[in-house]
Amino acid sequence: MKTVYFITSNKGKFLEAKKKFSESEINIIKKDLGYPEIQAESLEEVANFGIEYIQKRFDKSFFLEDAGLFIDGFNGFPGVYSAYIFHKIGCSGIIKLMEGLEENNRKAHFKSVIGFKEPNSKPELFIGEVYGTISKKPLGKYGFGYDPIFIPDGEEKTFAQMDTVEKNQFSHRGKSLNKLLDFFKNGKIETFKSL
Ligand code: IMP
Repeated sequence: MKTVYFITSNKGKFLEAKKKFSESEINIIKKDLGYPEIQAESLEEVANFGIEYIQKRFDKSFFLEDAGLFIDGFNGFPGVYSAYIFHKIGCSGIIKLMEGLEENNRKAHFKSVIGFKEPNSKPELFIGEVYGTISKKPLGKYGFGYDPIFIPDGEEKTFAQMDTVEKNQFSHRGKSLNKLLDFFKNGKIETFKSL
C-alpha cells in the first residue's frame, strides 16, 4: 500500500482526511512537523510557504492544508486570519460581532487549499470551497473550529451537527481532498501510478 503523510497538528482535519482516504487504496499518516504560518494575503501563499519549509526537512510524499472562513458582511474577514481570530474570540465572538447584520451579510464561505509535494516533482495545489451562512447561535457537538456556526447552502444543520462523513460531502476540505485523490488516481504522480 502506498503512503502519503498529512502534515498537521489538527486532529479534526486528520479525521476528515482519514475518512476520505478510507475510500481509496492509499494509506495516510498524520505527521505533526509544524511549519510557520506566515502573514500572507492568501491561503495559497501560506500553503506554498509551508511546502517550501517542509520539503527541506522531510523527504517523503506529503500534503498540508490551509483553510479559512470568509464572511461577506466583513469583506471576507477573518479569511487568512481565521486561526488567530478563532483563538482570540471563538465562535461566540463572531456571533456577537455579527449582531444586527442583515441576512445577506451573514453569507460566508470556507476555503481549503491543499499543497501536495512528492520528492523530485513540483508542488501541486488543490482548492475546495463551500458557501453557506453564519448561524445566529452555535449548534452541534462534532467537528472543530467554526463548525458550530456554519450552515452550508441547502442544509439546515451546522457542520458541527454533521458527522465526519456528512460534513465531507459538503465541505471545502471534502472537495479539495477529492481533487487530491483524483490526481492520485489519474496516475500523474510516479509513486501512485500503480493505483
Ligand atoms: P488553519 O487551516 O489550521 O490555519 O485554520 C484556520 C482556522 O479556521 C482555525 O481556527 C480552524 O479551526 C478554522 N477551520 C479550518 N478548517 C475548518 C473547518 O473545516 N471547520 C471549522 N473551522 C475550520
